Amino acid sequence: MCGIVGYAGEVQAAPVLLSGLEKLEYRGYDSAGMAIYDGEAIRVAKAKGRLQVLRELTSDGALIPGVIGIGHTRWATHGAPSDINSHPQVSDSGKFAVVHNGIIENYLQLKEKLMKKGVAFVSETDTEVVAQLLEYYYKGDIVDAVIQVLRRVEGSYALGVLCEDAPDQIVAVRKDSPLIVGLGNGENFIASDVPAILSRTRDIYRLNDNEIVILKKNSVQVLNMDKEPVEKEVSHIDWDVSAAEKGGYEHFMAKEIMEQPKAVRDTVSPRLRGGRVVFDEISLTPEQIRAFRKIYIVACGSAYHVGVVAKYVLEQTTRIPVEVDVASEFRYRQPILGADTLVLVISQSGETADTLAALREAKRLGAYTLSIVNVVGSTIANESDDVIYTWAGPEIAVATTKAYSTQLAVVYLLTLYLADLLGTLTPQQYAGYIEELTALPEKMEAILNNRAIIQYLASKFFNVRDVFFIGRNLDYAMSLEGSLKLKEISYIHSDAYAAGELKHGTISLVEDGTLVVALATQKRLFDKMMSNVREVKTRGAVVLGVTTSSQRQIEKEADYVFYIPDCCPMMLPSLSVIPLQLFAYYVSSMKGCDIDKPRNLAKSVTVE
Ligand code: AGP
Repeated sequence: MCGIVGYAGEVQAAPVLLSGLEKLEYRGYDSAGMAIYDGEAIRVAKAKGRLQVLRELTSDGALIPGVIGIGHTRWATHGAPSDINSHPQVSDSGKFAVVHNGIIENYLQLKEKLMKKGVAFVSETDTEVVAQLLEYYYKGDIVDAVIQVLRRVEGSYALGVLCEDAPDQIVAVRKDSPLIVGLGNGENFIASDVPAILSRTRDIYRLNDNEIVILKKNSVQVLNMDKEPVEKEVSHIDWDVSAAEKGGYEHFMAKEIMEQPKAVRDTVSPRLRGGRVVFDEISLTPEQIRAFRKIYIVACGSAYHVGVVAKYVLEQTTRIPVEVDVASEFRYRQPILGADTLVLVISQSGETADTLAALREAKRLGAYTLSIVNVVGSTIANESDDVIYTWAGPEIAVATTKAYSTQLAVVYLLTLYLADLLGTLTPQQYAGYIEELTALPEKMEAILNNRAIIQYLASKFFNVRDVFFIGRNLDYAMSLEGSLKLKEISYIHSDAYAAGELKHGTISLVEDGTLVVALATQKRLFDKMMSNVREVKTRGAVVLGVTTSSQRQIEKEADYVFYIPDCCPMMLPSLSVIPLQLFAYYVSSMKGCDIDKPRNLAKSVTVE
């Protein structure tokens, strides 16, 4: 949920840290800070507010000289956003400075013990406990002190530590929160994510839990908790810098919406060979697949909405019973599953705390876990029995779009893969679906080429107070995603309803001028949807219909219509989601909202 970065090299550290933090602001941006060793002592500069405040405070880093330092951009968990609660947090004597991403769950007990021993705390944060504990256990060896602390703290962390007694090194470690090491020439880095260091190096180590790094300008040593050296493989990042930049678009979200056809193509193509779906990356065997009696899908937010689509698609095609649950509910309801259950875990970041916890619960109960993840080497990916990566590339905007679409694409691939092994599709049906899947990117491009229509519709509705999204079956699943997209970036209240459910209460809210977005792409339910449209129209609603180009009769009922190309019913969500994303984007843009960094949100929710 926060972004950390560290630098040890030969140039001034502050500008490098500031530039790295800028690329990590999507992980949290309510305060920021740096700690740099200036040759005599560790100097700390930190402030509430966006990174720009820290830039102004330090004159872009000029006021805080030194060639080694750590930086942090925060999304508050313990302690409201404030100067004193910003990171780095320092120990009593100022000997240790710490930046932290994650949560120390037992920080209160540890804090009380230290206070009884006379340690004075200044902040409300859990992270300060780490700084104070380091000082408490420090006997001259930083790594020993770090190991002592790690043995006592519970929770999740990616930590960067600077100590005045060893001013040429940064010590870093992670558990359940992401951390990478950047390997430069005469300089080395730690960072929460790749974009922070891309402008200076493309070679990285991906750290695993409880691996301790001793980072100097000319050396990087990785140890385990027994202080034994750990061999690490260098990964080379082949994203170009623009892939993590806006590429000329006004917002990352706009760029990522437009990148969807390519992202889906990049995700699907490597898994189609000779007209068949192939998953070289999974170890799941046909025997295991045939032994599954149930599929459980767990995720959060938009990834959960992909799971709702997946339930319909998997059940219709493989005839395996599917349950789908939000991860934060799944883990507390004693789910009924075991070795005969496949648990599908969907997550863009691969670091969502609720989803990670649900994954661990599923494994504890003996289920086979397969994750669909966008961030390579992320915690959920590493801990699943199998992982299928979406190749969407870095998704920076808080509101997911291309990762969502590539998750849908993997769901279709997996559905066809399972159906093929279970024999629930004829060869003709299977071949037809492969063709439809291959044709999706082009149809997505056709919709994107018509985006001006959505922009026009947004201009008519960007001032509305409430919006209802309604649909049936797969269109209900899309209503969920359309509603969330609009809410999270335009701050307009909206709700998603199974269209048949509206009359059981909520229709009482419909009055003159209420906007209802009616998703009516599923041909076999089209007439039912038209009667739902009539229901809300008679109560004064204004209806924006979304349907396929072959269902023109909608124009008799809806006030406005956006058409998407036809395709097989189960893949229509990949097409209908695009106008919903664009509608939310344009409405938010016309309202002047902060589209890429909506208030109260962060890109990766690594707290429960
Ligand atoms: C999506 O637009 C939201 N930002 C949010 O719901 C997100 O999908 C959710 O937090 C799950 O994140 P994950 O996919 O990284 O696990």
